[in-house]
Amino acid sequence: MSIDVKKIKADFPIFANTIRDGKPLVYLDSAATSHKPKAVIEAECEFYAREYGTVRRGIYELSARATERYEGARQTIADFIRAKSSAEIIFTRGTTDSINLITRCFGESQMKAGDEIILSRFEHHSNLVPWLMLAQRIGVKLVYADFTPEWNIDTADLEQKITERTKLIAVSGMSNVLGCVTDAETITEIAHARGIPVLIDGAQLVPHFGFDLSKVKCDFLAFSGHKMLGPAGIGVLYMKKQWGEQLPPYLGGGDMIEYVHYDSFTTNDLPWKFEAGTPNMAGAIGLGAAVEYLNRIGWDKLIDHENEITEYALERMLSTDGMTLYGPQTPERRGAVFAFNYKGIHSHDVGSMLDFANIAIRAGHHCAQPLMETLGVNSTARASFFLYNEKEEIDILLEHLKASERFLTDAVG
Ligand code: ALA
Repeated sequence: MSIDVKKIKADFPIFANTIRDGKPLVYLDSAATSHKPKAVIEAECEFYAREYGTVRRGIYELSARATERYEGARQTIADFIRAKSSAEIIFTRGTTDSINLITRCFGESQMKAGDEIILSRFEHHSNLVPWLMLAQRIGVKLVYADFTPEWNIDTADLEQKITERTKLIAVSGMSNVLGCVTDAETITEIAHARGIPVLIDGAQLVPHFGFDLSKVKCDFLAFSGHKMLGPAGIGVLYMKKQWGEQLPPYLGGGDMIEYVHYDSFTTNDLPWKFEAGTPNMAGAIGLGAAVEYLNRIGWDKLIDHENEITEYALERMLSTDGMTLYGPQTPERRGAVFAFNYKGIHSHDVGSMLDFANIAIRAGHHCAQPLMETLGVNSTARASFFLYNEKEEIDILLEHLKASERFLTDAVG
């Protein structure tokens, strides 16, 4: 293996606990949310215990320290995704908040009725419902790029759907159901050649593959802390500087202003223009610690591990009788997220049976109901892997699936 998973697991207190019956936790739901290493938990605790104070407002030592830590985390994140400046990193509550910000600030100022946004057909609700809401507010039209036979975005179809009314392309970098990894570089080049900005929803992509803005020169990138070992309730919106300068602010309140009069206001510099109110300081510091932890392991190794898990899981799942696996069936352009149905057993029954063995998977529509319609199912089970998962956990999953089938078959006669 490319990384020593046992050593990594020891960094995560959750795995030292058993959930029930003394059985170890087999956690296969990192696409929903990831567990936290000690480094992240301690960074948050330390901040509250020793350095807590308001940022950017106080003139006392604690406030100065808190500001330094908060802005330091911003710089860590800017370096991680290779942004040109930390002024392009806006802290939000998460991917959903980041995309809602874009629909408000970009959508309402740059688009009008009849204008079009191109999405893929596998967007999760966070990169779909905010656009549907914008469509209700101002009458924009959503256009969907189709799939290739391998279950990825058909780039040629996307290109063909660009019209003079296309004002934004907003696609997920990696599907939370299918696991396919979008060719974001090509899509961004196609869009920019026509002067169209691009938003990449990096909720799944960034935690597992990182992001390099010097290669994928998108205009906006959204991702969440909690899916990449960081705290919940903190996320990032990368916004290219020229958009940050041009777009109106999002929420109004403290910190996003330069000066307020009774009848007007002026806005603060970037990125604070988009950060109204006292921010989630500990969350940002925890996210900075998560990025530093991942950087220390090394992204080449992390990606090798993801690829090894993907190859092994595909091999084992595709050779399991009665398994329907959704998404790409080969490891190219694919991450370790596996949506499946097994022998006609409802995904919730699969999930509940596995839970008895302390195997945590997700079951349901995965916040991607339109995709479920395309797949022709109401729901699927989903196993998703991260750096703390071993190949053996794929074997454990499959063994218990077979045992569940026997149990359910016996139960009905
Ligand atoms: N997008 C999150 C998931 O896939 C909610 O579980």
